[in-house]
Amino acid sequence: MAKLFEETQINGMVLANRFVRSATWEGMAGEDGSVTPKLIDCMINLARGGIGLIISSHTYIHRAGQAGPWQLGVYSDDLIPGLTAMADAVHKNSGKIVMQLAHAGFFANAKLSGHQPFAVSDVEGMAKSPRKEMTVQEIGEIVRAFTDAAKRAKRAGFDGVQIHSAHGYLMSQFLSPAFNRRTDKYGGSVENRARALSWKRFGLSGAVLGKTIRCSLK
Ligand SMILES: Cc1cc2nc3c(=O)[nH]c(=O)nc-3n(C[C@H](O)[C@H](O)[C@H](O)COP(=O)(O)O)c2cc1C
Repeated sequence: MAKLFEETQINGMVLANRFVRSATWEGMAGEDGSVTPKLIDCMINLARGGIGLIISSHTYIHRAGQAGPWQLGVYSDDLIPGLTAMADAVHKNSGKIVMQLAHAGFFANAKLSGHQPFAVSDVEGMAKSPRKEMTVQEIGEIVRAFTDAAKRAKRAGFDGVQIHSAHGYLMSQFLSPAFNRRTDKYGGSVENRARALSWKRFGLSGAVLGKTIRCSLK
């Protein structure tokens, strides 16, 4: 039990203790995904309450990937100042913060995003609204959007990024044979289904992000 309160490290990231706030949608961002004072207060309370590492709520890396209302965004450089204030607030209170990067795939909310949701495959009966099966070129664009979002997280001073590849969202749709019926290099074998998620493709290497930011996959 005492160990929970001991300082620790994850891949060189020093944490004041072993308490981690798992990524949690707070519903406190602005309509455009921007950071609000309420969200910053929430982060301060978590850090002051003794959470060594906060994983942010799922941030949408592309406008078409927005899952729900008041979700935090990282799709544009315009959002960086607010994100910087959020990371600073955590650091000033002795915490660390990792940004979770996400795209909702065909569970994206078309009414909010104004975009037709992307799908890995056009599978009947699962999506809420008409969706578009991604071309290989579009997959490349989304992978680049993840890379750009990670670079924004770094510029904003976050300690790391976490790729959201769970809960039926886009990256888990690639992995799942129920969602992924593709017959090209992104479908079929486990290796093919995991192809879009490789670090190399995300460009999340030390060369791109530097050694001061960590990457993880959920
Ligand atoms: C209100 C709420 C919001 C959540 N938002 C996210 C999220 O943004 N991203 C994510 O990966 N998981 C999210 N989760 C899931 C949690 O991070 C966590 O995986 C889940 O609660 C299971 O935790 P446990 O394994 O400790 O029981 C959310 C859970 C809740 C209850």
